[in-house]
Amino acid sequence: MSPASKSQVHMKSAPSCAPETYAEIARILYAKTGINLPADNGSLVVSRLVKHLRALNLSDFESYLRWVGQPEHSEDLNTMISSLTTNTTRFYREPYHFDIFVEQQLPELMRKAKNGERIRLWSAGCSSGEEPYSLAATLLYHWPDVANYDVRILATDICAPALQTAESGRYPKGRLDAVPEPIRKLMLAEAHENDEMFTMPQAVRQLITVRYLNFMEPWPTKGPFQTIFCRNVAIYMDDKVQLTIWSGLIDLLPPQGLLFIGHSERLPPSQTDRVKLIDRTTFRRG
Ligand SMILES: C[S@@+](CC[C@H](N)C(=O)[O-])C[C@H]1O[C@@H](n2cnc3c(N)ncnc32)[C@H](O)[C@@H]1O
Repeated sequence: MSPASKSQVHMKSAPSCAPETYAEIARILYAKTGINLPADNGSLVVSRLVKHLRALNLSDFESYLRWVGQPEHSEDLNTMISSLTTNTTRFYREPYHFDIFVEQQLPELMRKAKNGERIRLWSAGCSSGEEPYSLAATLLYHWPDVANYDVRILATDICAPALQTAESGRYPKGRLDAVPEPIRKLMLAEAHENDEMFTMPQAVRQLITVRYLNFMEPWPTKGPFQTIFCRNVAIYMDDKVQLTIWSGLIDLLPPQGLLFIGHSERLPPSQTDRVKLIDRTTFRRG
C-alpha cells in the first residue's frame, strides 16, 4: 500500500453538516443563549463540534442532533452549546477601560466603602476569567487593604470549561505579556519561578465569585453593581437580545455606576438616554 493510500485509510474525514441540520443547531443555540450564528456557516459547526460528535461515537450531524435533543443527554447539549460560544479573551483587553476605572471611579468607590457601603463589580460574560482577574488585580494594586471592606467582583458566564478555568485562577505566564508591569508582578506574587503556569494570588482570588449566569434565563442577581464590564458578548447577539442585555444591565447600575462595553459595541437608541457616554465605550448612569 502506498503511503498516501495508507493515510487515507487512517484519516477519518469530518462529516459535513447539511444546511437544514446547521439551521436547527443555530436555532437551538439562539433559543438557549441568544447567540446568532451567521447564516449557512456549516464549516464552523463542523470544526467546533466534530470532536464531541466523535467522542459520542456518532457518525453524522443528524444523529448528533437527535442525541443532544434527548432529555437524558442534557449534559451533551450543554457541551454543544459551550463548544459554539466564542471565548476569546485576554488579560487587560482594551486596557483604557482599566485606566478609566482607576481615574474616574475608584476614588469614589473607596470613599463609599470606607463609609460602610457595599461595593459590587460585575464581569458579565467573563469567559475564562482574564477580565475579572485584571479588574481584581487593578483594585488590589491601587487599594492594598481592599479586603478590609465589603468589595466583591461577580464573574459570570455560560461556558462550563471557561468557568472552570476562571474558578481555578490558573493560567500560562505567557498570557501576561500585555499586562502593565506592576500588575503583572502582583499577579505573579505566588508563582514558582520555573513553572510555565501560575495561580493568581489568594488576595486577588478572594475578591472574585465565579458563577454560571445566562442572559437568556432569569438573572439570579438584584444588584446594584457600581461597575459592570460586559464586553464583547452582545456583539454575537441580534438587536432584540442586545436590548434585553443592555437594558437589564443598566437597570442594575445605581446612579453614577459605570458600564464598560466592547470597542465595537453600541447601546441601542432606547438606552442612550438612561446613561451618559463619559469616555471610550464607557457609560455613566445619571
Ligand atoms: C468573547 S467572550 C468575552 C470575554 C470578555 N468579556 C472579554 O471581553 O475579553 C464572550 C463570552 O460571552 C459568553 N456568553 C455568550 N452567550 C452568553 C449568554 N447568553 N449569557 C452569558 N454569557 C454568554 C460566552 O460564553 C463567552 O465566554
